[in-house]
Amino acid sequence: MKKKYIVGNWKANQTAEQVQLWLDEVSQFLTTNYGEKEVIVCPPFIHLKQVADYVKEHETPLGIGAQDVSAFGIGAYTGEIPASLLREFASYGIIGHSERRSYLHETDSQITEKFSMANQAILHPIVCVQDAATQLPENTVFVAYEPVAAIGTGNPDTPENAEAVAKTIKEQHPSVQFVLYGGSVNSGNVASFTMQDNIDGVLVGKASLVASEFCKIIANA
Ligand code: PGA
Repeated sequence: MKKKYIVGNWKANQTAEQVQLWLDEVSQFLTTNYGEKEVIVCPPFIHLKQVADYVKEHETPLGIGAQDVSAFGIGAYTGEIPASLLREFASYGIIGHSERRSYLHETDSQITEKFSMANQAILHPIVCVQDAATQLPENTVFVAYEPVAAIGTGNPDTPENAEAVAKTIKEQHPSVQFVLYGGSVNSGNVASFTMQDNIDGVLVGKASLVASEFCKIIANA
């Protein structure tokens, strides 16, 4: 059976107390064997250490990702968090999320810089694309296909269309091994995406915030 990636992207949500409660519930759930599923959570930067310490202490099978990676390295870049520092707590980094492209005007060339910084730090970059035509940095392995109209709207793409886009991305970029689908994924629709041949998992925003719903997504994926 192919490995499925279930990635929760908390975006700008969760207090430290909420993080603790979420971890208690999800960690408990993950003690059941979900060996063929790789579960990853991407908290805001300020919670990365809390999550990393928890996972280490409880030996929770939960991967950790950052929601962004700086295009700069270590040095005088106020407010930036470079990949090599993130690597202390995280193994993955989301790059080029459509919210960053639109609210922070991130460009393809910045995304390429971020990708290269992440790779150098051995922080697996998950590059978000809005369709099969979005530019991808060379040697991209993980892609998240997230059509803008599906993000946070309750109107997911159809599994058939998502599968067609995932297939095209893999055909056009032989380095791509995993394509995740993101956009209004919940416990009711997750299986319709993960059952597709070319979809290797999901990137879940809103529905990842509630521990019980996230656990159902993992179970149903
Ligand atoms: P959503 O967000 O699940 O809230 O639609 C998906 C994403 O942007 O990662």
